[in-house]
Amino acid sequence: MNVAVTAVEIKPFAPQNDEACQQRIRAAKEKLGDRLLILGHHYQREEVFQHADCSGDSLKLSRMAAASNADYIVFCGVHFMAEVADILTRPDQVAILPDLAAGCSMADMANLAKVEKAWRELSQVLGNADEKITPVTYINSAADLKAFCGRHNGIICTSTNAKNVLEWSFSQREKILFFPDQHLGRNTAFTMGVGLDEMVVWDFDLPMGGLTEDEILNAKMILWKGFCSVHQMFHPEHVDRFLEKYPDGKVISHPESSFEVCQKSHYVGSTEYIINTIRDAEPNTRWLVATELNLVNRLAQQYRHENKIVQFMAPTVSMCSTMFRINASQLADVLESLVDGKVVNQIKVAPQEAEQALLALNRMFEVSP
Ligand code: 13P
Ligand code: SF4
Repeated sequence: MNVAVTAVEIKPFAPQNDEACQQRIRAAKEKLGDRLLILGHHYQREEVFQHADCSGDSLKLSRMAAASNADYIVFCGVHFMAEVADILTRPDQVAILPDLAAGCSMADMANLAKVEKAWRELSQVLGNADEKITPVTYINSAADLKAFCGRHNGIICTSTNAKNVLEWSFSQREKILFFPDQHLGRNTAFTMGVGLDEMVVWDFDLPMGGLTEDEILNAKMILWKGFCSVHQMFHPEHVDRFLEKYPDGKVISHPESSFEVCQKSHYVGSTEYIINTIRDAEPNTRWLVATELNLVNRLAQQYRHENKIVQFMAPTVSMCSTMFRINASQLADVLESLVDGKVVNQIKVAPQEAEQALLALNRMFEVSP
């Protein structure tokens, strides 16, 4: 994991009986009242998710954090989400991640040293990269990469606003360096009319990203070679098999899925979009969903009474292991510590980094739907 944070304290957690934990969480929430806001990403396991005051995708949750007056924002999600909450809140508000090891493997595929190296190498080919390229980081990235985008006149995107962000980015400069998720970059740019032949993949382990000068000169989108290990489990054959069996079925995918899967899907969008689309669908419909298993299981349960059949796309279990790290016992422990006046597992972004990252976040909010 990138280390742009200072953790105040790491508390050892002992796993505990489920119902007892649920009681402890409820009691601590009651005592903390409106001094506490628990935010829960849709991929959280049920025992944690049920205690969230607000749930959402990355964009919605960051807006919730920004609007909150609570002293403590406990983020049941992953590391970059808690960093964003810290950046968007006042210095006296505290962002907490119940398990400090809950990172995002995709976010870890880009780091500042590699992005700065790419920027230098791109400048060798294009002249000053700042004049030619808008750096765009997916919100799934460490705070120092958000700060990089802030100081290089770049921007941040989420799966909800990627199209608006890319439109803004192309209005500023002729090329985009998009990191860390190649799939979100490719899927979004393609829907805007950028051809696959205008996109190249930057292999961060190779000199010049493994590209020739001509490839760099001709590219509009330079896509970092990152991906999500959960969404790479979905394949176009899964869609084909489903539609052969259920020709009236609908396919909905998160844009971190591959280009081939997204091309074969009826709908593509963020976790919140997936939820809303299935919620608003006619009863008696069948859905194949390419996103994390906890969310798909929740949807299947939630809409069973309307006879909506919601299926997970991959034949194997594919959960986000880092999202899954946070359990009820850990949540109970951090909340009880707060009741005792003790902050544990705080996520704090260094002030200068936060200031620069905020520039890029604010640009994102300005262009977001
Ligand atoms: P959303 O912003 O769509 O919830 O996506 C976050 C994420 O990490 C998906 O893998
Ligand atoms: Fe990161 Fe993928 Fe997990 Fe989302 S599902 S938090 S992108 S590893």
